[in-house]
Amino acid sequence: MNFHIMTLFPEMVLQGLNTSIIGRAMEKGLINIEAVNIRDYAYNKHNKVDDYIYGGGAGMLMQAEPVYLCYEAIKEKIAYAKGDKSADVSGDCATDEKKSEDSTDNRDSAGTEHKCKDRLRVVYLTPQGEVFTQKKAEELAKEEDIILLCGHYEGIDERVLEEIVTDNISIGDYVLTGGELPAMIVVDSVSRLIPGVLNNDVSAEFESFQDGLLEYPQYSRPEIWHDKKVPEVLLSGHHANVDKWRHEQAVQRTRERRPDLYERYVSDSKNRT
Ligand code: ADE
Repeated sequence: MNFHIMTLFPEMVLQGLNTSIIGRAMEKGLINIEAVNIRDYAYNKHNKVDDYIYGGGAGMLMQAEPVYLCYEAIKEKIAYAKGDKSADVSGDCATDEKKSEDSTDNRDSAGTEHKCKDRLRVVYLTPQGEVFTQKKAEELAKEEDIILLCGHYEGIDERVLEEIVTDNISIGDYVLTGGELPAMIVVDSVSRLIPGVLNNDVSAEFESFQDGLLEYPQYSRPEIWHDKKVPEVLLSGHHANVDKWRHEQAVQRTRERRPDLYERYVSDSKNRT
């Protein structure tokens, strides 16, 4: 899996991602992360990539052209790495659009229709996007290449977004100073789903959200700490009872802490039966 991060602050994302599990996954070649500086594609001698906003308004906007040139360079690099210059990593998919007119496969987890099915995924990190979920991470983990576009200042000229972006993602209903931290969050959560990235293959499967529930409480040694004892069932060695207890705890915790998730879990369980 290759992540291509378009940013004005490449060192920020690389430094944030090169340690611990994600750093080891990079060393092992399980994932590749490149940060491409949008400023390298500035087309003026001052390397300026932002300008005033038409119609007025505070702050500056990132201009369309450097973002587009940066995207084009990454797209070409991906095609070259695939050894197939004709591979459909273009944003121009008019022919495919026709082919898939009646298909519903080209929808992402939010039901947003992409312009064509096999299009290179370009994720724009923005508070105006669909809120990022585990389901979306699973969907992105199926891709071989993902471009993550980080905005700064007041955002990016809408025209280039219309041309290149396939997915708008928000990491929550609050506003940050740029898309770099959100991009790091997406890279982290998608990477841990790639086989081999976590030492323990089963752990990604059974954790929070994978079945729509929060994770049950967990304990390690010592058996008694601050007069608190580890629940007896976990010391029993009876696997079926342990599984039952954990499931009940997960349900209870979800009901108490995330009533929204609990409601969905109950209605999904009803639909399954
Ligand atoms: N950029 C600024 N705030 C953001 C958010 N909440 N999610 C994604 N990108 C952002």
